[in-house]
Amino acid sequence: MREEPRQSTCLITGASSGIGREAALSLAAQGLKVLLVCRNRDRGEAVLAEIEKLNGPGRACLFIADLSSQSEVRQLALDVQSQIGGLNIIINNAGLVTSRRKITAEGMEMILAVNHLAPFLLTRLLFKQLMPSARIINVTSSAHRAGRINLADLHGEGHWNVYKAYAQSKLANVLFTYELSRRLGNTGITANCVHPGIVATRIFNNTPLLARLIILPMTVLFVSPRKGAQGLVNLALSNKLEGVTGAYFDRTCRSESSRRSYDSELAIKLWDQSERLTGIDAVASRDYI
Ligand SMILES: NC(=O)c1ccc[n+]([C@@H]2O[C@H](COP(=O)([O-])OP(=O)(O)OC[C@H]3O[C@@H](n4cnc5c(N)ncnc54)[C@H](OP(=O)(O)O)[C@@H]3O)[C@@H](O)[C@H]2O)c1
Repeated sequence: MREEPRQSTCLITGASSGIGREAALSLAAQGLKVLLVCRNRDRGEAVLAEIEKLNGPGRACLFIADLSSQSEVRQLALDVQSQIGGLNIIINNAGLVTSRRKITAEGMEMILAVNHLAPFLLTRLLFKQLMPSARIINVTSSAHRAGRINLADLHGEGHWNVYKAYAQSKLANVLFTYELSRRLGNTGITANCVHPGIVATRIFNNTPLLARLIILPMTVLFVSPRKGAQGLVNLALSNKLEGVTGAYFDRTCRSESSRRSYDSELAIKLWDQSERLTGIDAVASRDYI
């Protein structure tokens, strides 16, 4: 067992923008060391500089990785392992929508790759670095309620549209969280997921034009990224949530997720398929979870 470090360390993906950026700023302001995972170096350095300006040097460090690439996820895990001691919190926040079907270099559908496979792979690879009572937080969406997991065609080769692909990926986040929590058992490490609210961020910029036109008048109702970050920060820091695991939060309130998300057989099938798609096979996984 590693010793608990005096300062908690939190890794957060998608820290360059929107909800992730605000959560990183808030966590650093509350005394944590924050590992910012960003794909865009300039945007990442701007967040790093802001954190250091507000909190002093050494409060954050930057890791660059395009999470659509599994080889970059693997490199990221190696970099974190070699540069950082134990991790107290992982927040899998990075996410995207794409206006058309895109395929990654490794042949994965882009939304599935970034929103589900990357957190699945990264969490598994970093597992050995987690401290006792570490918290794993997956950022999902209320859109998971419309999601279906098409195990026969996860990549949407037969039929793809952005809503289906996004909702599938966000349901996958919830199923992954619940299955992870079951597998973590009584290790003391917890896994929960959160819908951050409807938040005014850049994520909507890539929705199809018609959807953007429909969304436009509603944007006045969207909350700020700072407000959207509250659900993540609550899950990361709240003392009241010690030991709470396998739960879905709507912003800061524990809530029920969709009926389908509680299907544990589906969760196992998705887990197995995610292992195959990421190359974390049954043998390797003995070293992880
Ligand atoms: N906004 C909402 O209303 C809402 C509602 C429910 C759930 N969510 C969830 O909240 C999370 C954060 O989204 P947001 O609304 O804050 O959107 P955002 O402002 O677009 O932020 C998304 C973050 O993910 C990063 N990212 C995207 N693709 C990546 C890749 N291939 N590799 C590495 N990083 C990548 C982005 O990096 P770049 O800066 O390089 O683009 C950015 O930092 C997502 O998981 C989303 O599904 C959002």
